[in-house]
Formats: sequence, structure tokens, C-alpha cells
Amino acid sequence: MIRSGAFDNSFVNEVMAEPGGEHLLDCWSCGTCAATCLVRRFDPAFNPRLILRKAGLGLREAVLASREIWQCSACDACYPRCPKEIHISEVMQAIKNIAIREGYEPPGPFASVDEGLCSGCAVCTRACPYEALARGPVMVNGDERTIAQVDKTLCMHCGVCVAACPSGAMSLEEFNDQEILTRMGAGGWLEQPGYLQGAADAPRILAFVCQWSIRSDAEWAALEAMESESLHLVNLPCSGRVDPAMILLALSQGADGVLVAGCNEGECHYKRGTYLGRGKVALLDTVLGQMSAHPGRVRFVELGALTRSALPALIDRMSQEIVTAATAAAVSAPEGA
Ligand code: FES
Repeated sequence: MIRSGAFDNSFVNEVMAEPGGEHLLDCWSCGTCAATCLVRRFDPAFNPRLILRKAGLGLREAVLASREIWQCSACDACYPRCPKEIHISEVMQAIKNIAIREGYEPPGPFASVDEGLCSGCAVCTRACPYEALARGPVMVNGDERTIAQVDKTLCMHCGVCVAACPSGAMSLEEFNDQEILTRMGAGGWLEQPGYLQGAADAPRILAFVCQWSIRSDAEWAALEAMESESLHLVNLPCSGRVDPAMILLALSQGADGVLVAGCNEGECHYKRGTYLGRGKVALLDTVLGQMSAHPGRVRFVELGALTRSALPALIDRMSQEIVTAATAAAVSAPEGA
């Protein structure tokens, strides 16, 4: 039940006075945004239509105190589909700005900085898609040092900074380096020699899969059902979280190939994770191709509405191509090599 005292028209005016908030009352409440929103994959309670509706009614406390307002990652998947062309993430940001001014805080999790390890190199500040990191002075063991600091009101916990940090100073709950390494080696998968070492019947593929690129529990379960000696899955918050050092580690410990699956370009939940992940994999593949007799052992695939169900086939094709390349390399190798 909503009491009449809860309606505060000044809140409506406040939101509309914020940059980006001016279209609040244009919303028809049609729900197209809610039908499109990726957040609902993990939190069905998240409903951008409802947040805008409540804000438009002036329900200040209900809106500002809700954890949902912090969940919009500004991926803008809803924007092209909104019949009123409302930039919903900008309205959401206007609401967040008021919440921040009034002392509300996002629930987290957030990236965090190990002050002892951070060198202040600023690689993370440039990598972050949300400009949530900045260098600033901090007292560490009695010394003032300029190191990275996380703005919790901006951090969307994508993990891009963790993968980018050359000092290992950044971490992210659930997706820090140690946890991903543990999942990579789960069940001793990484300890077994692979096909290219002549110890397996088929190539052993490790697949890092962006958790947003798989849109339903049923799709994820179907993928998990494929796990075997030849396929091991490791989920990531975003393909931008992939760390080339982890790919190299997998290849050096029994994986014949590493596949990174991310969202289609333009559909990444964290703005530019696909761009970053694809770039890292392409660079690594080039370097490995120049060093190895078996190119194509590292690849990036983008998953969208038309290609998502093709992931098993893409994994199969990668496996076959590794076999073909290895056979060709064996045939062309000089005798006695
Ligand atoms: Fe899927 Fe970024 S969220 S690639």
C-alpha cells in the first residue's frame, strides 16, 4: 500500500532537472525496456519500467532506497527499442546522482585495490568502462602514495580493471584471480596432458564464457552438460575480464585450445568488454601464431541471438581445426625434426 504522503512532486522536478533526467515523464510504461533488460537474467525483480514509474509518481524514498537503481549498467540494450526513445540509463543516472547526494550507497560488490601492491600506473583508470577508478593520494604505512581508488558509486563490477592491472593489485569478489584459477583447475582438468602432447584422443578446450552472453539457465545447463575431458567451462563476468596470463597458463598446462565467448559487439553488458576481450585474444593469437607450429589455439567468438545456440558447434569446429593444423604441421615437419 502506498500512502498519499509518499508522493513527492518535488522529487519528479529534481530528477527532471538532472542532466539526462528530463525525459522521465515521457515514459509510457509500456515495459519494452523491461523485456529487453539483461539484468533480469540474474535478477527478475529488476524492472526499469517500474523504477521510472515510481520516480514519475514522486515516490522519493521507495526509489532512492531501492538497490535496483544501482543495477543498471548503462549497456543501453533497451534504448534502441524504447518507442519513446528515452535514454533510460541516463534517467537512471539522474536518479543515482540524487541518491548519491542524499548519502545512499550502492550495495556492491565492488572492485578493490590492494594498496600495498598498487604502483599507481593508472592502467586500470584507462581501462575502466565506467571511469570508476582514479589515482589519488593515500597514506600507506605512514607514506603518502598516489594509487588507484575506486568510486563505489560508479563501479559496476565488470572486472576489466582486474584483468588490466599489471601489478595484481585489483580484485573483485567472486572473480578475483585466485577464484578463476581455482575454477580453471577444478577436478584436476589442467593437470592432464592434451592432444598436442599425444596424450588425449581429442583436443582439450578450455572455454571462458561471459555469463551475460548466455541468456538463460537452460542454455547454461546445456553447455555444462557438454563438459568432459575435452571441454572445460569457466564463467566470467564479462569477456573483458579475460586475462592473457590465464590463457597462457591453460595452454601450458594441458589445454590444446582456449576459446573466449563474449557478447556480440554492441551487446556487452559492460559497454566495451567485448572490444577489450576480443582485442586481447586477437593479439595473443597473433603472437602465438608467430611462435607456434599450431596457430588458432586461441580464439574469440561473439554470441548474439543468432549465434548463441551455435556455441557447441563453434567449440567442435575449433577442435577439428586444431587437429587439422596439427596434422598439417606433422606432415610438413622435416624428417627427424
Ligand atoms: Fe558479455 Fe561483456 S558482458 S562480453
